[in-house]
Amino acid sequence: MYLDNAATSFPKPEKVYEAVLHAMRDVGASPGRGGYRQSLEAGRILFQAREAVASFFSITDSARIIFTQNATGALNLALQGTLGAGDHVITTSMEHNSLLRPLYALRKKGVELTIVPAGPDGIISTDNVRRAVQSNTRMIAVSHVSNVCGAIQPIQQLSELCHDVGALFLVDAAQSAGHLPVDVGCMGIDLLAVPGHKGLLGPSGTGLLYVAPHVPLQSVVQGGTGTNSTAEDQPHTLPDGFEAGTHNIAGIAGLHAGVEYICELGLSAIHQHENALLLQAEHALQNIAGVTIYGPAVSEKRCSVLSFSAQGVDAAQLAAELDHGFDIAVRSGLHCAPLAHRTLGTLPGGTLRLSPGWFTTSRDIAFFSDAVAQCINKIRRT
Ligand code: ALA
Repeated sequence: MYLDNAATSFPKPEKVYEAVLHAMRDVGASPGRGGYRQSLEAGRILFQAREAVASFFSITDSARIIFTQNATGALNLALQGTLGAGDHVITTSMEHNSLLRPLYALRKKGVELTIVPAGPDGIISTDNVRRAVQSNTRMIAVSHVSNVCGAIQPIQQLSELCHDVGALFLVDAAQSAGHLPVDVGCMGIDLLAVPGHKGLLGPSGTGLLYVAPHVPLQSVVQGGTGTNSTAEDQPHTLPDGFEAGTHNIAGIAGLHAGVEYICELGLSAIHQHENALLLQAEHALQNIAGVTIYGPAVSEKRCSVLSFSAQGVDAAQLAAELDHGFDIAVRSGLHCAPLAHRTLGTLPGGTLRLSPGWFTTSRDIAFFSDAVAQCINKIRRT
């Protein structure tokens, strides 16, 4: 039983598999690299996927979406493509290493970095972020939803702060895209990093970066674009200048199918379903002695994941017991977000994280909760 949709969603809708196979078997060619019909068809797949994704995030110009390999690729491009020595960036203690590590690398090149600690529930105070602003603050970078405890950050307030102080607003939507509405215009987002393979239900190896029209972006990867081939310099045109090399056309076709599937279901149906499952798990886990659940106490302030620990029980051992004894796949440990675990007080062992998806049922959660209780008892007896 797969309950690790925060790492990558599984299974995918049937039409995602079909779209991948169609692109691989029936189309096969590379978009923008030939005038023959197969290449033109690949170009259509790429364009239609870009349009669908744009509409999903209320982006008016789909050319401002750059397809990447994953959210990490999108974050690296957003950070390395906009920041330089002397710039100051504010981020938070709830971030994943996909945001932190590129920032640490930029710090070695002269970018100043402030990491604002979140509260013990994982939520960032906009006032604390405001207090960290300096005259050279170029960017505020935050994840919309914590991959560790599901805390939903006050995006609207942070966006207003960014625009008050003239900083770019970078949002990592790794755990919110496909779970919560994300509207780049209403939310004042300048740069949006999204994985294609999590909540959007596309294949792994897909992701995207949205870049608002006023944001100057430098390429970080140079190579063939199928355009302006005699120029020595990388074209600055979006999206091609930032998508050097052959596209993951099968993955992008699958991502388009995933987004269509979500639009047919309705985002709110997905959100309600997942939230109901998380609440069910929370109620069941609360009945097990010594279990602590992390993150905001109010369910409206969290989504996608539920993290917990059990007194006297190693999270990695519990995950292994669930896998071997019950065939349940969940992620334990630090979830690539060590500062988030420090914030929640769950270092060094981390937590056990449950992340249901659209295909998870209430019976699955009942089975999971029973299995957790049995595994905890077994570990405590030994
Ligand atoms: N960021 C992914 C996770 O939280 C991989 O598991």
